[in-house]
Amino acid sequence: MCGIVGAVAERNITAILLEGLKRLEYRGYDSAGVAVFTNDEKLERMRRPGKVSELERALDAEPLLGRLGIAHTRWATHGAPCERNAHPHFSGDLAVVHNGIIENYEALREQLKALGYVFTSDTDTEVIAHLLSHKLKDLADLTVALKATVKELHGAYGLAVISAKQPDRLVAARSGSPLVIGLGLGENFLASDQLALRQVTDRFMYLEEGDIAEIRRDSVQIWDLNGKDVEREVVQYRDGAEAADKGEFRHYMLKEIHEQPAVVQRTLEGRLSQNQVLVQAFGPQAAELFAKVRNVQIVACGTSYHAGMVARYWLEELAGIPCQVEVASEFRYRKVVVQPDSLFVTISQSGETADTLAALRNAKELGFLASLAICNVGISSLVRESDLTLLTQAGREIGVASTKAFTTQLVGLLLLTLSLGQVRGTLGEGVEAKLVEELRRLPARLGEALAMDNTVEKIAELFAEKNHTLFLGRGAQFPVAMEGALKLKEISYIHAEAYPAGELKHGPLALVDNDMPVVTVAPNNELLEKLKSNLQEVRARGGQLIVFADEKAGMTNGEGTHVVHMPHIHDILSPILYTIPLQLLSYYVAVLKGTDVDQPRNLAKSVTVE
Ligand code: G6P
Repeated sequence: MCGIVGAVAERNITAILLEGLKRLEYRGYDSAGVAVFTNDEKLERMRRPGKVSELERALDAEPLLGRLGIAHTRWATHGAPCERNAHPHFSGDLAVVHNGIIENYEALREQLKALGYVFTSDTDTEVIAHLLSHKLKDLADLTVALKATVKELHGAYGLAVISAKQPDRLVAARSGSPLVIGLGLGENFLASDQLALRQVTDRFMYLEEGDIAEIRRDSVQIWDLNGKDVEREVVQYRDGAEAADKGEFRHYMLKEIHEQPAVVQRTLEGRLSQNQVLVQAFGPQAAELFAKVRNVQIVACGTSYHAGMVARYWLEELAGIPCQVEVASEFRYRKVVVQPDSLFVTISQSGETADTLAALRNAKELGFLASLAICNVGISSLVRESDLTLLTQAGREIGVASTKAFTTQLVGLLLLTLSLGQVRGTLGEGVEAKLVEELRRLPARLGEALAMDNTVEKIAELFAEKNHTLFLGRGAQFPVAMEGALKLKEISYIHAEAYPAGELKHGPLALVDNDMPVVTVAPNNELLEKLKSNLQEVRARGGQLIVFADEKAGMTNGEGTHVVHMPHIHDILSPILYTIPLQLLSYYVAVLKGTDVDQPRNLAKSVTVE
């Protein structure tokens, strides 16, 4: 997490750095800072707690002008989000910005203190600045000193450094945290995500793990993990920077919720024939590999993990393939027994989530048949390191709480289920053709669910004064309930828990009273009658019920029961449809509570640290 921008140019770079930081705010937004080698040849910085707009205000009042600089937007790991802990960190003539976590920072800190270095922050980053300063005493060159410094760092880092002693360059190092160089004419840039630099260039060079780079105005030199001088491919983006405005919507999240019919449609495009899924959508070797798959292991984090949990129901029910799903932070540190012929599937919006990436790297050592990434970013590390890929076509998602990425992941996972079943011949008669037909109708159904916007907005009023909620679902709707609860807690800060409805009486029923609304998703399937009994258990304890129910489920409003009728849909696709009202519900509750919907407190869009 955190965002890095750097620039070396012939013109003033402060505005470029600030614009880059604004574009990177999705990575963290609790403080921001910039260090510039100023036109009067001094290294100066400005740091502010809070959002980039605070830093911008401070720079308006006291401008820093220069042609070399680095900047950072922070998501606090070590030390509170205050000015003292904001990056850049200084040591003598040096300024450093850092993404990631230095695991051995305590030992290094003690060593450096013993050498007389004074620490002014609680961060792990400051040890890098002092260690580099120390190395520079013997090794006069900044790049050489950086190479020596990173050898002593354990953990993950994306680093950018400038020095008042060698103001012709920006130096950078990548290990576990992405960095990309933006190439200009007579000027060059650095960032943790190319999005930060799209206003100044469309040509990029991605650093690989272990790379060190020296970036000057008119040249870029890169050394790999082994210190070998290397060239990295230049990638050119021809499409204009993606529109990132909210349009008619009040928040990005609402805009992204409403984009779902279009992005689901885009995710399906070119991947369906008349009545089948095109298996080659997963890559040229997909058909051959899928034929061998006997097990699936899914690993992901957050919302993407919930998508994986839905897929488990589909893979076992439709394709008859045993499936396990686990959060990446657990999987990566567990002794895993790998079933024979297992496909390792990661799901990620960003493709840069540190735990998911680490789990993929571990999986490669564990004897999986192959790896597949279902991801929204084609140039991400996850995609580059996986054997097979299916790109969701959600477009850029800015709201921290994921919405359209989730529904497009579900579409991708259903395509995977049908592809595996097709190749292995395990789908029931006519199942694939029927579901392909239903998938084609899905965007229209999602549009119908979005038309219930005003109804859900009214229901949200029931939650504004509550502190706790329960979300219930059965079968593949249980992960949908989990995702609904996650959305509500993320953006409205109301405590929300999800339970499989059948577990209610084994504990959570004790919590149910008039102050604890219970939200349920109730499609018309074979579990409906059982679910209705669970709901009676809630009503009998005075609990307020909010039920999103199939129009044919025969559920009606009553004392303490609010039923919202949903368009009828094929049961397999219902998790995608029923996600929509839960997203809208959390959105409207958050609006009523006046929280920062798009950038909720303490969270970040892309979690590139453990
Ligand atoms: C963060 C985001 C979530 C996201 C999760 C996994 O927590 O705030 O919205 O679901 O990371 O991210 P990924 O990019 O791997 O899907």
